[in-house]
Amino acid sequence: MSSARPLFVLNRACEMREVSDACRKAGKKLGFVPTMGALHRGHVSLLEESVRRAEVTVASIFVNPTQFGPGEDFDRYERDYEGDIKKLKGCGVDYLFYPDISDIYPDGFGTTVSVGNLGDCLCGPFRPGHFNGVATVVLKLFNIVRPDFAVFGRKDYQQLKIIQKMVRDFNMDIEIVEMPIVREPDGLAMSSRNAYLSADQRTKAAEVNKALSEVAKKFRSGCDDCKILLAEADMVLRMAQINDIDYTEIRDPETLELRQRAVKGDLVALAVRLGNTRLIDNRVL
Ligand code: PAJ
Repeated sequence: MSSARPLFVLNRACEMREVSDACRKAGKKLGFVPTMGALHRGHVSLLEESVRRAEVTVASIFVNPTQFGPGEDFDRYERDYEGDIKKLKGCGVDYLFYPDISDIYPDGFGTTVSVGNLGDCLCGPFRPGHFNGVATVVLKLFNIVRPDFAVFGRKDYQQLKIIQKMVRDFNMDIEIVEMPIVREPDGLAMSSRNAYLSADQRTKAAEVNKALSEVAKKFRSGCDDCKILLAEADMVLRMAQINDIDYTEIRDPETLELRQRAVKGDLVALAVRLGNTRLIDNRVL
């Protein structure tokens, strides 16, 4: 923790570009951590990794409307500017890019990224347009910040793979750094959306990671039949009265193709709903 470093807040894309141009000219390595704010220890682990690797770290906070569907939680998404500033300072982040919506989506904005088949599975069908919205804003942020590398969490595994593919497909000269999922002591993956959970839902939410652990346990015991493996997850969820399950699936960790037989390194991913709150989690076998 290097809290002695000052944090500068930049609200305009043109200011951000000037800072990043100056970094490049000075030969300084620039790391970038895009977020939607309401920062927690998961975000902090990404910020700390960037501060470790780079001479200058930029974080962004932008609750991106184009990745929320109609009826999703855009309006009630957690916002905690003061708390976020404290955490950014605590990590030694140098710049917060905190743009106004009109700077990211000015009148007449019209070009968007279409992410292709990596966006068609897992969360894709449940959140139409979500990953196109994510890829579009991340591409814009990359073009504004122009970092040497950007840090993403495996918590949003499908998002991470989509961003890595976009960077390859568009020949972008940015390294994508992956970070592990940070969890609460009871195993719940940290998420800005956990704040929505009632006490009862919060207790149940811990079972989401237990469901993944049971799959991993069964796999280690020699079972590779995905139907049988996923039945373990379903059982844990149903026992906890988590009945609103979007999916529990085992997929190739890179292509995200569905598996019949699991192999080491495969992705187990799930999404459930507790009331109005959608929780996602995953682990690699
Ligand atoms: P947000 O949900 O704020 O997440 C920002 C980054 O933090 C993502 O890379 C996400 O995977 C990572 N993260 C969240 N929870 C984590 C956890 N428990 N452990 C480790 N990493 C975690 O993801 C987004 O924002 C947006 O889609 C964004 C990329 C900023 C585009 O709008």
